[in-house]
Amino acid sequence: MSFVTSRELLLDAQTRHYAVGAFNVENMEFVQAVIAAAEEAQAPVILQTTPGTLKYAKPWLFAAMVKAAAEHASVPVVMHLDHGDSFDTAMRCFRAGYSSIMIDGSKQPFEENVRLTRSVVEACHSAGIPVEAELGKVGGKEDDLVNADDSPYTDPGQAREFVERTGVDSLAIAIGTAHGVYKVPPVLDVERIDAVKRLVSIPFVLHGTSGVPDDKVRDCIRRGMCKVNYATDLRIAYTQGVKDYIAKNPEVFDPKKYGAAGLANVKQYVLGRMEVLGCIGKA
Ligand code: 13P
Repeated sequence: MSFVTSRELLLDAQTRHYAVGAFNVENMEFVQAVIAAAEEAQAPVILQTTPGTLKYAKPWLFAAMVKAAAEHASVPVVMHLDHGDSFDTAMRCFRAGYSSIMIDGSKQPFEENVRLTRSVVEACHSAGIPVEAELGKVGGKEDDLVNADDSPYTDPGQAREFVERTGVDSLAIAIGTAHGVYKVPPVLDVERIDAVKRLVSIPFVLHGTSGVPDDKVRDCIRRGMCKVNYATDLRIAYTQGVKDYIAKNPEVFDPKKYGAAGLANVKQYVLGRMEVLGCIGKA
């Protein structure tokens, strides 16, 4: 169908009360798996890469792969930068042709987060590219809670000021999720979504969703989360598929064989997530 920006997808999700899945991709097999799942589900989809992934393969390579796949797909597809860590990283992806950019200044003091986010918004909006930002702190690998007096959760009043001053298109709000594998089930402050929604009207983004129980994810979507991010569980699914294949076929040395096994696992996992997000048939 088409390579689109996240703006139209998230506004549709907000209006029709579902969430678009945003899946972190690490290589060509992940890209194929996520798009195959989206086509089977007839769901709009966001593929995203972190700065860590962009050390493994350049943004122009991911942008080219995803654009080409999108041209052959029957559903709308977005290529998004996840947790852009600087103006430079955001601009590298913008220039490479990403159709959605996240700048994550959440580890900076509020004023610095505003300044950084505003600068990325100005650059991206000049070409019609929407920007996601983060306020509050999602825990886990991304965590850096150095100031004991900083609440890790998003403050609703600050969120309103942040959105007004930056012009950002979507906002990751912190409600107690964390990136990575949960050692104990997360305790989520879902009422915080309602509190932020009373003051802020743009679509919200849920980060750190691998391992969050399905009923909790559905509740977050009912309350206003329009984009839901999954990374860790896709990596686990892929690696398990590869390991199982090699364990059963130790003589195989063709990467296509075990790559296909990893791909099949990721596709199944993504299809299951799309069911929870309510995005099936929404393309
Ligand atoms: P998980 O790795 O917990 O799924 O988090 C993904 C994410 O939020 C990427 O930004």
